[in-house]
Amino acid sequence: MVRDPMLLRSLLFVPAANGRALEKSEALAADGLIYDLEDSAAPQAKDEARERLREHLGKTRHPGPKIVRINPLDSREGTEDLLMARGAGVDAVLLTKVEDSDVLKDASRALDEMDAPARLRLWAMVETPRGIVRAEKIARKGVRGRLSGFVVGPNDIQLATNVLPDAERTELLPWLMQIVLAAKANGLHVLDGVYRDFRDHEGYARECAAGRRMGFDGKTLIHPAQIEPANAAFGPSDAAIAEAEAIVAAFRRPENAQKGVIQIDGRMVERLHLTDARRILAMRDAIAARNAASANTDSR
Ligand code: COA
Ligand code: MG
Repeated sequence: MVRDPMLLRSLLFVPAANGRALEKSEALAADGLIYDLEDSAAPQAKDEARERLREHLGKTRHPGPKIVRINPLDSREGTEDLLMARGAGVDAVLLTKVEDSDVLKDASRALDEMDAPARLRLWAMVETPRGIVRAEKIARKGVRGRLSGFVVGPNDIQLATNVLPDAERTELLPWLMQIVLAAKANGLHVLDGVYRDFRDHEGYARECAAGRRMGFDGKTLIHPAQIEPANAAFGPSDAAIAEAEAIVAAFRRPENAQKGVIQIDGRMVERLHLTDARRILAMRDAIAARNAASANTDSR
């Protein structure tokens, strides 16, 4: 049996301070939404943004996971954000600039005290030098609590390190792969960072493809135009689906029932590839179900 994979190809940041963006997000085909109360809300707009988001979450019909990015928990805003997110029944809270596991522990404890259900998860932005250096420890300790995923924050990384990555992100690759590895070693989801130049479609498509090759589950986005390319890059290609179908069919044949390894068109195929093939087909089915759910939302 393959568990239904959670679709995380495209997670769009929606600034809660922007009523138009909130309204618009309802019909967008992003796999999930990250409502932002942190950097995109100016200090004097944070309380109003939280209230607007509370109201919006009470009536949203978007079919994907809903995540709220909150302000630091040692601020008044952060505490109120967490309370709001818990009350609104979102799927996860995204903490920013996570640099050690204590902050995750504190957030988990605060959620426990609010009687938050276990399904309310924590996600962590890894976006500082310390966060990157300690990513494995943060992941390992974090999964003992509610931690479910990492999100890369390239803008803050750049700001804090003065790194000047080229278009291929060459200078960032060791750090990005370290974050991916820390996540994978501990069973966490991991999302690639945002691409700011939302009118540069070619550069964006290249970055999505690179993120997929690095092993990210999906990409965080800032603009609706970025949704479809991310869905395409992080979903299985037609060729991958066809190959997965061929592998499943081959192992179903009676003559292969007892075999651990076979060949298909001159390529070695083992049972571990069967497991992956089933994962790919489960993802294909999840995408079809999601598309059907979005179509329903549209026609309401
Ligand atoms: N979520 C939902 N809707 C969005 C959106 C987003 N992130 N970004 C843009 N839109 C909407 C706009 O409201 C506009 O809707 P309309 O034409 O129906 O009124 C439409 O998409 C086209 O937007 P466009 O005019 O091209 O861009 P903009 O100038 O309105 O916004 C940004 C550009 C960068 C300010 C905006 O995309 C944004 O705020 N992105 C998210 C920022 C964020 O959350 N940052 C924190 C994480 S890094
Ligand atoms: Mg940041």
